[in-house]
Amino acid sequence: MNKKIKLGMIGAGSFSREHLEGIRGLKNAEIVAIADSIEERAKEKAETFAIPSYYKDYKELLAREDIDAVTLPLPDQVHCQIAVDALRAGKHVLCEKPMALDIEECKTMIAAAKETGKQLMVGQIGRYTPAFVKAKQLVEEGVIGDLVFIESEYAHDYSKIGGTGGWRVTPERHPILGGGCHAIDLIRMIAGNPTEVTAYATNKVLLDWPINDTTIGIMKFENGVIGKVFNSHGCKRKYTMRTAVYGTKGTLIFDNTTPFISVFKEELNGMDSFLGEDQQVIEMKLPVQLNNHNCAGEIEDFCDCILNNRPVTTDGVEGASTVSVGLAIVKSVETGLPVKVDYNF
Ligand SMILES: NC(=O)c1ccc[n+]([C@@H]2O[C@H](COP(=O)([O-])OP(=O)(O)OC[C@H]3O[C@@H](n4cnc5c(N)ncnc54)[C@H](O)[C@@H]3O)[C@@H](O)[C@H]2O)c1
Repeated sequence: MNKKIKLGMIGAGSFSREHLEGIRGLKNAEIVAIADSIEERAKEKAETFAIPSYYKDYKELLAREDIDAVTLPLPDQVHCQIAVDALRAGKHVLCEKPMALDIEECKTMIAAAKETGKQLMVGQIGRYTPAFVKAKQLVEEGVIGDLVFIESEYAHDYSKIGGTGGWRVTPERHPILGGGCHAIDLIRMIAGNPTEVTAYATNKVLLDWPINDTTIGIMKFENGVIGKVFNSHGCKRKYTMRTAVYGTKGTLIFDNTTPFISVFKEELNGMDSFLGEDQQVIEMKLPVQLNNHNCAGEIEDFCDCILNNRPVTTDGVEGASTVSVGLAIVKSVETGLPVKVDYNF
């Protein structure tokens, strides 16, 4: 029988359910323990998902030698401390996004992974969203020519989700880091690292939140590519990560909740004679599977990397790079100046 990774989970709050449902169908992993500082939550998840053990103190879970790796659906503010403890206890770590809320913590996590030789993966789940994976592949295959401009948005109305009184509503958890990191990471996945950002932000909806609810960051990349990220936690629309990628020979428009990618092309293998007189481009709809929170794919890949000694895709440096772009945007908002993004970890 193929080996299975024995997983522990620290954090039994709302997103742990998605991790647990993802693990349930996997052939290369099994969950053997869960911990939460609110013990009843760990107990409830253990009962619902038939997990053999649960703990209040995560250090008891980390002390178990039979556990190979842990996933950490925990508040952003404790990612660093608990990821480092887990790495030092000899566990591979899948930490939720955003990796951390400041660069010093990201550096500490990267150093701990290096020192222990254990894999540290950051759960940038967009890397496993079928439309995003397909769009990256189309760009790499040259379907839209050379990249010109990329924009992505994370528009998610938090006024009903709430969060007031919880860890999400703190001055250091800027929405551009918390939710916006998905759009930043998607931009980085397709266009690489922006070198400089200029940003503006405002707060007109979530007036009792100590951060801006709406932010735009414009970006400069190598090779003349330009980009934009938009993040709103106050928008009055359905949740979306609408993204557009413009190239010299075509354009892609897609999101995480539409079952197709729109592909616009000037010509299609020399068949431009099919264009009508007023028509300048051919539009095609390329079907894609919908799977917005593909935790199964993400955790399966994490375990496969461990089993086959293959480096994870979104390691500490990748996670920190996305955080660093977000922090540069925050700094540009504060200073009113363009900010170079620091990738020195
Ligand atoms: N990938 C995604 O799309 C996605 C979606 C939602 C949330 N998230 C991320 O998942 C993480 C968790 O979010 P959530 O919505 O589940 O939060 P949550 O508040 O519902 O759950 C967090 C849990 O961690 C527990 N906890 C806090 N400190 C602890 C400690 N020191 N030891 C043990 N347990 C502790 C809390 O008691 C709580 O049960 C966050 O980083 C968030 O950004 C990611």
